Amino acid sequence: MVIIIGNQKGGAGKSTLTLMLANYLTQAKKCAVTVIDMDYQQSIAQKFEKAKLLENAEPYEVIAANLENYPDMLEILKASGDQVVLIDLPGKLDDDGLIPVFKSADLVICPFAYDEFSFDSTILFSVVLRKINPDVTISYIPNRIKANVKYDTQVEVDEQLSKFGNISSAIPDRIDFQRTNTVQTPLSVLPVIIRVFDKIYKDHLINNL
Ligand SMILES: Nc1ncnc2c1ncn2[C@@H]1O[C@H](COP(=O)(O)OP(=O)(O)O)[C@@H](O)[C@H]1O
Ligand SMILES: [Mg+2]
Repeated sequence: MVIIIGNQKGGAGKSTLTLMLANYLTQAKKCAVTVIDMDYQQSIAQKFEKAKLLENAEPYEVIAANLENYPDMLEILKASGDQVVLIDLPGKLDDDGLIPVFKSADLVICPFAYDEFSFDSTILFSVVLRKINPDVTISYIPNRIKANVKYDTQVEVDEQLSKFGNISSAIPDRIDFQRTNTVQTPLSVLPVIIRVFDKIYKDHLINNL
């Protein structure tokens, strides 16, 4: 099964959520996971190499790749058996290399925030994605939500996004998230993450694996 984590907006939490989902699926669900890091910053691949140097056992493989190599890579991964392929996408839409990636997705996870710029990017991403893969399931995750802020746009944003997919419970803005790596998700944020991922797993993954 191919899961892509995307949004045109940089800083939405794509790379962080990819890592946390990889950790969740391997640790809590014992799935065989491969992460394809297509972000320019290759932050996941760097964390993976760092963990390797520290001689941690590698719970899953991380492959740094660019969009052009994707079609070949997918064939190899599919031939290698039943597993979950997680793809951390770059924050862009103006690249034809995204077409085969969007087409291959069984599920799309889209982190977003309730500010105006993020909303426009999220809608644009969703429209383009739907054009290329009309039936794909989209699961939106509100991320970096501040406890003391009232988001005026929340009701409207939720209503618009609901036309494309479903919206999960929110992930708060907490500094601990920045300590997530390929070995573990910080314990302090685990309850929130497990709640979000358990629901996605039950609704969209379990029948696909
Ligand atoms: N819920 C959160 N709370 C606090 N910081 C977060 C949260 N989610 C992501 N971050 C931080 O925000 C920054 C951008 O996140 P990242 O996952 O790299 O976004 P993207 O891949 O979409 O560009 C990173 O420094 C990350 O650690
Ligand atoms: Mg990223």
